[in-house]
Amino acid sequence: MCGIIGIASNKPVSINIINSLKKLEYRGYDSAGLATLTNNFINEKKCSGRVEELEKILFKTPSNGNIGIGHVRWATHGVANVINAHPHSSEQVSVVHNGIIENSDEIKKELEAKGLKFKSQTDTEVITLLITEALKNSNPLDSVFKTLNKLHGSFALGILFKNFSDIIIGARRGSPLAVGYSNGENYLGSDSYALKSMTNKISYLDDGEVCVLSKDNVNFYDANQKKINKKTHILSENENIADKGEYKNFMSKEIFEQSKTAKNCINEYIDSLKRDINIYDFPLDPKKINKIILIGCGTAYHSCLVAKYWLEELTSIDIEIDIASEFRYRRLKFNKNNLYIFVSQSGETADTAAALDICKKNKVKTCSIINVVESTIARNSDWVLPIHAGPEIGVASTKAFIGQLLVLFILSLKLAKIRDDIDEKIYEKNIKNLKKIPVSLQESLKTENNIQVMAKEFLKAKGSMFLGRGSSYPIALEGALKLKELSYLHAEGYPAGEMKHGPLALIEEGLPVIIIAPKDKYFEKTLSNMQEVIARGGKIFFITDNKKIIANDNIRFGLRVPFLNNLLSPILLTIPLQLLAYHVALLKNCDIDKPRNLAKSVTVE
Ligand code: F6R
Repeated sequence: MCGIIGIASNKPVSINIINSLKKLEYRGYDSAGLATLTNNFINEKKCSGRVEELEKILFKTPSNGNIGIGHVRWATHGVANVINAHPHSSEQVSVVHNGIIENSDEIKKELEAKGLKFKSQTDTEVITLLITEALKNSNPLDSVFKTLNKLHGSFALGILFKNFSDIIIGARRGSPLAVGYSNGENYLGSDSYALKSMTNKISYLDDGEVCVLSKDNVNFYDANQKKINKKTHILSENENIADKGEYKNFMSKEIFEQSKTAKNCINEYIDSLKRDINIYDFPLDPKKINKIILIGCGTAYHSCLVAKYWLEELTSIDIEIDIASEFRYRRLKFNKNNLYIFVSQSGETADTAAALDICKKNKVKTCSIINVVESTIARNSDWVLPIHAGPEIGVASTKAFIGQLLVLFILSLKLAKIRDDIDEKIYEKNIKNLKKIPVSLQESLKTENNIQVMAKEFLKAKGSMFLGRGSSYPIALEGALKLKELSYLHAEGYPAGEMKHGPLALIEEGLPVIIIAPKDKYFEKTLSNMQEVIARGGKIFFITDNKKIIANDNIRFGLRVPFLNNLLSPILLTIPLQLLAYHVALLKNCDIDKPRNLAKSVTVE
């Protein structure tokens, strides 16, 4: 949440700061700002809303200066307005911040008691004032370290100094921060994607580290203020390429490229010659695994929920799943024969990262299923299984969900094979079916025309309900999540069999109810649950991979996706639900890539 950029150069930096902020907008888009230094004067410009607004301000009143910092905000402390926008500057320093300072109220009281005044409602301003105070008798680096020692919470910082006009200081505790290098120019950024157009040479700060960058030099320090060396990564040509091409927005591009990203993922893991799965180096002997615990948030949690059904079906392992924000506070009994799997697109989600830390402290083996391989969660895990989906920019997760499902399915199969839980022929048949997924995804995307018509039926609806059983239950949850986050229409996801225990009371004449009913052992039961809804006036939208039953007077709309086998149906059934959420949001004129109140990478608790 929140994006940081810093540039120290031998030429004016404001245009490049704006361009980088546009790339960071997926991290937050409530407000934006920048500060540059000109003749030892901190020139701060801020706006509420998007980077576009900041660009207009700069167009009218340009900011000069060869050094500067910029920020896009996802509001935590204080409403999204100009005053609370970053940077937060005193006469001496200017600060951009990502994360949360948990003891800001306490520090604020102390500073106010000394007579200092606050302008904003943010937690960030305490950092500005602490550094300003410390600067009275220390150099910039010492004053930053003194300040860091007083802060609780997790954060990344970029700091500019009025009287030390050639440096930017960056600091990381919990929230990601990268440094980029070029000739006569160095950079600070929340991620390498924001820096990619300027450099392919990147270093990543680890927790507790601080960097001091000038146009010609970057120095790194550990938490004890000891100088350290950092590894430089060279980003490959196609790494981090994210361009929406001819698509209206990133989300539609990401939905429609799922066949391609799934193919990449499958090719990485399937050895076609040996008809086997290329997963080795398990951190724990698969035959000795006692239990697998899968942990994630939001959409990533839904993929854990699907995987629970797969692992239970295919292996003899005991499976548990949890939402990361719950897991991290439970009184857990850790077992060294358990494998803890963390699922995250960004690899920076604060709750998931904290849950991983707890596992590490308890010395149990961890695995992450991740899209951003250089992320915190990936770097802190014993074992990483990348999903190979490429950058996902739309805030609502689509291709990453499909990638997570694919890797989880592949892992489930491999575990079953190693543990002798699966017959060789069935194993090979599943691999064969997996390879058909990209084509079947392409077929599923052809439901779009019908979905465009179907989406109109949601415009006047008060709410909606998504129902499924077995592995279609998490798909119902995911369909409801996509619809609510993109179109702001109330949507509930439920196990279809649970309706009669309360939610049936919500069904009234005309309420859209999406029934997800693949050809599996639950099919007939789901039909019975559908009848209960029909009897109460629900308007049925029926999504299946079964050739049977689509034409029925009581079904308003029927959609069919290809059938591969029972296990793989959740992957294909997801596609119409992504398209539905997308088209309802489009008809409602919602901001598809940047839904209100949300941000892509949730680096706060
Ligand atoms: C929903 C969505 C979120 C994320 C969740 C976890 O479309 O994108 O629910 O899935 O915030 O994010 P990651 O996967 O980055 O840990």
